[in-house]
Amino acid sequence: MLLLSADFGGGCFERETHRAACLLQKLTPEKCPFKGFGLPLTAYHAYLPSALENQPILQTKNLRYSYPNQAEIRFPDLVCDRGAHLLIAGNSGSGKTTLLHLISGLLRVQSGEVRIAGTDLGKMSQGALDKFRGSHIGLVFQQPRFITALTAVDNVTAAQYFGTGKSNKAEAVALLEALGIAEKACKPTGQLSGGERQRLAIARALAAKPAVVMADEPTSALDDENADLVSKLLARQSAEYGAALVIVTHDNRLKAKFKNTVTL
Ligand SMILES: Nc1ncnc2c1ncn2[C@@H]1O[C@H](COP(=O)(O)OP(=O)(O)O)[C@@H](O)[C@H]1O
Ligand SMILES: [Mg+2]
Repeated sequence: MLLLSADFGGGCFERETHRAACLLQKLTPEKCPFKGFGLPLTAYHAYLPSALENQPILQTKNLRYSYPNQAEIRFPDLVCDRGAHLLIAGNSGSGKTTLLHLISGLLRVQSGEVRIAGTDLGKMSQGALDKFRGSHIGLVFQQPRFITALTAVDNVTAAQYFGTGKSNKAEAVALLEALGIAEKACKPTGQLSGGERQRLAIARALAAKPAVVMADEPTSALDDENADLVSKLLARQSAEYGAALVIVTHDNRLKAKFKNTVTL
């Protein structure tokens, strides 16, 4: 890689370029070891944006996880490109939720590597990881929990705020509209049906315009009609926002709907 040959030691880099290059290589500037082979500064500047854009949104290598006193779970290597879909199927107990929690940074990596947009989650501090998740990843849980003191739309604006530091009610309402629950915008979340809660969970996951939406069994509690609707909404809204979509599920109804499937 071009950046590996960069001369960081000689002070020929502007600070931003150095910082971006270190970020790309997951190193703190103090630890950056690259030396020698100086290229014109413009070469690095030209390279950096495309290097960042060309990273798959999700990539795992040799990922394993052990709960205390349990056999180690080994996961197949995953790759998901930006804006693409990946369905991870598997029976109950095969490790789907564990995998989703590892790739979203809810569980710390013990062994192997998880990269989101090129960033190695295992090398981040807990605080940095939480911040990164808020701005890059939208999570949809099987049993979504909302802030019950807030209305449906304010659960979405809260997620916008947590992810981006700003909230935009008009955008939140537009998202609810796209998901067919605009009329519930001002209702407390306790008044929503199961299918409506799942759609609100999708709206919340997309609120901060993440690069990847990750969903854990988003349809398994739903009847055929709602399962079909929710999977289509997930795919359509993720595409609209340019987000990749990673679903883990044991719901065989979904397998036929997604081309890129990995089975645990
Ligand atoms: N918090 C936990 N502590 C101990 N074992 C766990 C924990 N969570 C999951 N496991 C075990 O890890 C395995 C995989 O679980 P999980 O990732 O939830 O699978 P799936 O989502 O495919 O049903 C199971 O054997 C489960 O019992
Ligand atoms: Mg599970």
